[in-house]
Amino acid sequence: MRVVFVAAEAAPYAKAGGLGDVVGSLPKALRSLGLEVHIFVPLYRDHRPQTEPILSFSLNFAGSSRAVRIHQGFLPQSDVPVYFVDHPPYYDRPGIYGEGDQDYPDNLLRFAFLCRAALEAAEKLGIWPDIFHVHDWHTALLPVFLREKGKRAKVVLTIHNLAFQGWYPRPEWEKLGLSPESLALAGEGEWLCSLRAGLRTADIITTVSPTYAQEILADGLGLDDILRARAEEIVGILNGIDTEEWDPKQDEYIWANYSAEDLRGKAFNRRRLLFELGLSLDAPVVAMVGRLTEQKGLDLVLAGFDRLMALGINLVILGTGESRYADFLQEAEKRWPGRVRFLAIFSEVWAHRIIAGADFLLMPSRFEPCGLTQMYALRYGTIPVVRATGGLKDTVVDVEEGGNGFVFEEFTPEAMLSALARAVRLWREDRKSLLALRRKGMAGDYSWDRAAKSYQEVYAEILSR
Ligand code: ADP
Ligand code: GLC
Repeated sequence: MRVVFVAAEAAPYAKAGGLGDVVGSLPKALRSLGLEVHIFVPLYRDHRPQTEPILSFSLNFAGSSRAVRIHQGFLPQSDVPVYFVDHPPYYDRPGIYGEGDQDYPDNLLRFAFLCRAALEAAEKLGIWPDIFHVHDWHTALLPVFLREKGKRAKVVLTIHNLAFQGWYPRPEWEKLGLSPESLALAGEGEWLCSLRAGLRTADIITTVSPTYAQEILADGLGLDDILRARAEEIVGILNGIDTEEWDPKQDEYIWANYSAEDLRGKAFNRRRLLFELGLSLDAPVVAMVGRLTEQKGLDLVLAGFDRLMALGINLVILGTGESRYADFLQEAEKRWPGRVRFLAIFSEVWAHRIIAGADFLLMPSRFEPCGLTQMYALRYGTIPVVRATGGLKDTVVDVEEGGNGFVFEEFTPEAMLSALARAVRLWREDRKSLLALRRKGMAGDYSWDRAAKSYQEVYAEILSR
């Protein structure tokens, strides 16, 4: 079986969040099951290639003939080919989706072009697949272009985040040169929606956790009609993580390696982290790693900030995103010297160091389709404190129910604070149970094996129709 992934991100080449992680690791697990997998992503500025293109052609798109070059690489430590779609006017820019708080206004064209180029290149390279696996609104139009092309292949659309739907004004859509019937798939009004067209034309829809599949059927964020119409064809498959990239035994970014049997390395990472960041040693370290957006529950942290600090914790936050949150955190760092550190950068190295060195990872998400950082934390013996939503609910169970972390239900500062207070109490008063809880998290299986098998079943099912 041959599968072609088409996506806006693939780690380590292009990553803004978990989408990049998934596209950079799931294909390797599928490959281990014997599937042939190929990946198409744009060639962004950060990864200008040293290589010669393996293919060049031109594409009539948005009213002109445009040159496309395809460069080839591989996912690290694998034989999974990655094809970089090179079209500098669209992709040779500082950002993946935009700059600062501003998305690029021509994102519809940029990602529609990716779909067109991938379809064309798959044919020309002789790798036409049984399945195209597309991800989020960016590549949701691929099945529409596939229909217009008149060639056969099945399409799986994975929703990583329903909050991003790809709405653009009609004149922008008209540049795509789609037939009136195809255009109507994206809606009727003056604003049309890329994800809607994909949800109507993909052969099957998956989401990145079972709970999120239920949640979007209960509240479809404006796409309720189409989601409910296809309810039988929405499958929730919990993400895995790259267990080689995230392995405390061999992680090269952290200061000392460690395992569940011997946690001395974790204590070393903790001390070193606190030293590097100028924080006090005698308080539990609560960390947050992620995009600073409403989704991630930053409003709870802001609203409860002084009460949070009154629990006697060190707070370390690594993240970039909306300036209203960043500004607050910068101020907070000044108000709480030696207790709060805010690293306003995107750094893979610091993500690893913080997750290895922290005692607890806080994820008070408003919603969370899956979430990967809580799984990284569990694997590193860092205990997650999460709100019960989406994939967080599917991966973290409260310690009072025999689980692996601390869970709260209500989206209120009080609920979050009471879960954190329980965590801090355990840290201060019961080192033995704390250690057992760390070990429990580390013993979990977060690999892609199970999910890859589920995707393989999904592929087989639609091929047999
Ligand atoms: P989302 O995709 O919603 O952002 P996930 O938990 O699925 O959330 O994935 C986020 C990914 O991005 C993780 O790999 C996390 O480590 C990474 N990440 C987020 N912010 C940063 C940052 N500032 N520096 C380094 N890595 C980050
Ligand atoms: C999205 C979601 C996140 C998920 C990731 C990978 O970015 O916000 O919860 O883990 O996709 O599927």
